Amino acid sequence: MDFKDKINLNKLPQHIAIIMDGNGRWAKQQGEERIFGHENGVKSVRETVEAAAELGIQYLTLYAFSTENWNRPKEEVMALMQLLVHTISAETKTLNENKIRLQAIGDLKSLPQDCLHELNEAIENTKNNSRTTLVLALSYSSRWEIVNAVKQIAQQIENKTLSASQISEETINSFLCTASMPEPELMIRTSGEHRISNFLLWQLAYSEFYFTEKLWPDFRKNDFYEAILEYQNRERRFGKTSEQLIS
Ligand code: FPP
Repeated sequence: MDFKDKINLNKLPQHIAIIMDGNGRWAKQQGEERIFGHENGVKSVRETVEAAAELGIQYLTLYAFSTENWNRPKEEVMALMQLLVHTISAETKTLNENKIRLQAIGDLKSLPQDCLHELNEAIENTKNNSRTTLVLALSYSSRWEIVNAVKQIAQQIENKTLSASQISEETINSFLCTASMPEPELMIRTSGEHRISNFLLWQLAYSEFYFTEKLWPDFRKNDFYEAILEYQNRERRFGKTSEQLIS
């Protein structure tokens, strides 16, 4: 079934976050090394980014590399970094053609020099685009982000530029990597795993979660549309009752 035509363009989520999972299992099914799965995952990234830009989704955040992923075998980590560097530089032109701005969240200082360099260049070269913002979560984990925010808040208190009684949700928000972004209304995870794996723990407080059995390299535009459609058919209550939402 084609889901695109069923999407209500007036009820689009502003921000969609995706945990791209299942590359390793996909490769294993083909009798190949894990990196083959990551390489094929790039096509799914391309399709999803294109679909998001076509619809006019404002923010798309992809969990590309977690803090915990550093613990994978060295060869896989290196191959993934190479793939990221290569893809980012190869895709900059297409990002500009589609008016997509690139941003990144995470402990970017821990990335290899060449990766960080390519990333910063692509961010700089796409910074004036305004159709869709593609956010890559790289060397990202939510607990790292929260610890980082708490340290900065503590520093302000030490400097006496902030007092404990002034701390609000907005204060915490302002120290997160996502400070300038709307919260994701929809979080998609592929590969049948039902976890959030240290991803945007604060920001996903009221998000709708959508899980699909599809492995990431098999994920296509129509799967993305299906997730949006499912989101549009759900009722978001933010702690209220259904009756309160109608009145
Ligand atoms: C999870 O699958 C996927 C990753 C850790 C990496 C995702 C990276 C890409 C798709 C490469 C390109 C990305 C961009 C943004 C250019 P897994 O390895 O955990 O799969 P498994 O659970 O089956 O082992």
